[in-house]
Amino acid sequence: MVTLITGANRGLGIELVKDGLQRGHRIIATYRSPGDELLKLKETHGDKLHMEVMDVSDYDSVKAACGRISAEFDAIDVVVNNAAVLLETKYYKGDPIVEMDLDKFYETFEINTFGPVRVLKEFMPLIYKSKDGCIVNITSEGAKLKKEGSHYIAYSSSKIALNMYTQKIRNYLKAQDDKKDIRIFMIHPGRMDTIMGVENAQISPAVPSKGIWEIIENKKDISLDIPFIDYMGEQMPC
Ligand SMILES: NC(=O)c1ccc[n+]([C@@H]2O[C@H](COP(=O)([O-])OP(=O)(O)OC[C@H]3O[C@@H](n4cnc5c(N)ncnc54)[C@H](OP(=O)(O)O)[C@@H]3O)[C@@H](O)[C@H]2O)c1
Repeated sequence: MVTLITGANRGLGIELVKDGLQRGHRIIATYRSPGDELLKLKETHGDKLHMEVMDVSDYDSVKAACGRISAEFDAIDVVVNNAAVLLETKYYKGDPIVEMDLDKFYETFEINTFGPVRVLKEFMPLIYKSKDGCIVNITSEGAKLKKEGSHYIAYSSSKIALNMYTQKIRNYLKAQDDKKDIRIFMIHPGRMDTIMGVENAQISPAVPSKGIWEIIENKKDISLDIPFIDYMGEQMPC
């Protein structure tokens, strides 16, 4: 299986790379900057690990990466849209309406929401060529509508928008005879001990990585109309 992972240089992304390689898959790791750990993995795994620069906030970068990858791969089976940012602290310093930092809000959407949209716009033709296509958009419990809490306002908004996009493309694919078997998930990976998750961490990213691979490998029966799930495959409340 050929799997492309965005934000593959650290956090959940690099765990998915390590697990995928261990499970015998061919991995296309994409990143803004590779970092030592990924470069070491390349030394060990050679052709099984394809490395590619791709900034998901920059459409030219996504298009250029897709061009280079298309020259080497006839098809991609799985795309994991993992790259994201959390640019806020837990509680907004000030009034999050009138004092909103617009630049941070825009940047959050550029990466967390428009990033996956750009990536799938370019890479979907390669997924269409797979016999077992699968899309995993890494989302968050922050995408739930709740009656309390005003924290992580830009991040949560970006993830709920990502979920809506994911559900809409899922509904489109399901309505096409030749595309309805493409599997698509929006997965909350849990509160992980990563740079992003440090404020609220409960688990190591190694835990959800294994669960996400079980889902990718179709080892869990998940036939939900709204595939917003946790890393164990359980339905998340919307
Ligand atoms: N951590 C948690 O508790 C938690 C909870 C719920 C959901 N999530 C979700 O889980 C996923 C992974 O999060 P994480 O905790 O592993 O975060 P992380 O450790 O902060 O890693 C984020 C990754 O995204 C990459 N990235 C950021 N902007 C990018 C861009 N413009 N183009 C390409 N790559 C970019 C980063 O690369 P650089 O090194 O270049 O910055 C890094 O590789 C995210 O989708 C996140 O929203 C995390």
